[in-house]
Amino acid sequence: MAPSPTLNTDRLLLRPFRSGDAPDVQDLAGVYDVARGTLILPHPYPDGEAERWIADLQREADAGTLVNFAIVLREENRLIGSIGLDIAATHRHARMSYWLGQPYWNRGYCTEAVRALLAYGFRQLHLHRIYAPHFLNNPASGRVLQKVGMAYEGGLREHYLRFGRYVDVELYGLLENEFDQR
Ligand SMILES: CC(C)(COP(=O)(O)OP(=O)(O)OC[C@H]1O[C@@H](n2cnc3c(N)ncnc32)[C@H](O)[C@@H]1OP(=O)(O)O)[C@@H](O)C(=O)NCCC(=O)NCCS
Repeated sequence: MAPSPTLNTDRLLLRPFRSGDAPDVQDLAGVYDVARGTLILPHPYPDGEAERWIADLQREADAGTLVNFAIVLREENRLIGSIGLDIAATHRHARMSYWLGQPYWNRGYCTEAVRALLAYGFRQLHLHRIYAPHFLNNPASGRVLQKVGMAYEGGLREHYLRFGRYVDVELYGLLENEFDQR
């Protein structure tokens, strides 16, 4: 797959991660309240993990199974989070995931990033479907998915085992034709 481009929104730049981002990633992703909403962030966040993760992103991008962007505040050139799509090319669908550093919550940044990623996924990658699960106990993420117009598709009981507990999941999705009809 071609390297991920840079996407611009009103306030954000979405660009590929680079190795120099590792200290910021560790600072932002190392906070428990950030990790607990996600499927994959470890906690505590080990030294060296951010470097490993950024290198893995590139390998997965090369394999065509992932596109991932650093979310950067354009005016300050400050890294504030991550957003990406895990792609199943066979089905032309992708699972979206994202996290933002806690100081940047509730300012509409994630919603802005998700809108840009949906446009990229449908218009540039020609995906048929993009879906996003979120933990039932993480309503802010559900609110983001509602704000961008994704359809609620149901709940999955105790679907994931996260930090030693089974967690309920809410699922949202959007189809290519629904995106085009906007
Ligand atoms: C989920 C997350 C990405 C949202 O990012 P964000 O930039 O704060 O999102 P936005 O500001 O675009 O939108 C958040 C919305 O949730 C709402 N919200 C915040 N806390 C809420 C709560 N406890 N209950 C209900 N709604 C809540 C906000 O009011 C806002 O909605 P509004 O615009 O209608 O007022 C961020 O909280 C985060 O990174 N959390 C940790 C990681 C994570 O959970 N990732 C998601 C994995 S599915």
